[in-house]
Amino acid sequence: MARMPVCRRGCFTIILSCPTPASVALRGSPGRSTTARSRVAPFDRCFWMRSSSYRAARRAIRLVAVDLGCGAGTETLALLERGWAVTAVDGAPEAIARLRASVAPEAVAQLTTVVSPFHEVELPDADFVYASLSLPFCAPGEFREVWRRIRKALRPRAIFAGHFFGRNDSWAETPDMTFHTREELDGLFAGFDMHMLKEQDEDGEAVSGPKHWHVFHVIASKHLAN
Ligand SMILES: C[S@@+](CC[C@H](N)C(=O)[O-])C[C@H]1O[C@@H](n2cnc3c(N)ncnc32)[C@H](O)[C@@H]1O
Repeated sequence: MARMPVCRRGCFTIILSCPTPASVALRGSPGRSTTARSRVAPFDRCFWMRSSSYRAARRAIRLVAVDLGCGAGTETLALLERGWAVTAVDGAPEAIARLRASVAPEAVAQLTTVVSPFHEVELPDADFVYASLSLPFCAPGEFREVWRRIRKALRPRAIFAGHFFGRNDSWAETPDMTFHTREELDGLFAGFDMHMLKEQDEDGEAVSGPKHWHVFHVIASKHLAN
């Protein structure tokens, strides 16, 4: 029997193996479970992929991501391309307009866009919340509510990835931005497994010129029972 090619994007293995959102998000592309491959013979896989129940199952388990502060939407577009349903949020209408103009026609149905400040947005239940270089721009008085909404949106075992600015940052005196200590981050991520917490505390460049960056890069997943 001829061995059928394996889909390069691994789109069938995600159906068969149902990887956790953690494994999906941390790998950056839909699952490649060797467990599933070894359990399912090649012929069975291909038969399944051609069936209407395969297509129905694929639609049924579509993973949901939120891109909070999507800006130009680079990550939203990457997630859509990999089959996620994405809610992209930004307070700047021009950012959302730019994103909508760049979405492939076949992905439009999987994209929801919202122009809103973070502390007022209704977020969907999500497998992945991505907040790249956006949360520090919340006013300190709004941050608590923003974080409450993010925590509520994250399904059990869902992944959060994003950035927080530390108190050594050049912008730390800016009154309408939010900065955190390492200890405060521990508090925010109570009830999460921390997969990566990288602290960057160094001189560098911003669009505005030289600056000191104090940034925490975080990837964490919410506990099942949380
Ligand atoms: C520095 S950009 C980052 C864009 C993108 N995530 C990236 O990593 O390239 C921050 C984005 O978050 C949005 N933003 C910042 N604070 C916000 C808030 N409180 N409510 C809504 N949007 C906000 C800005 O409009 C901007 O598009």
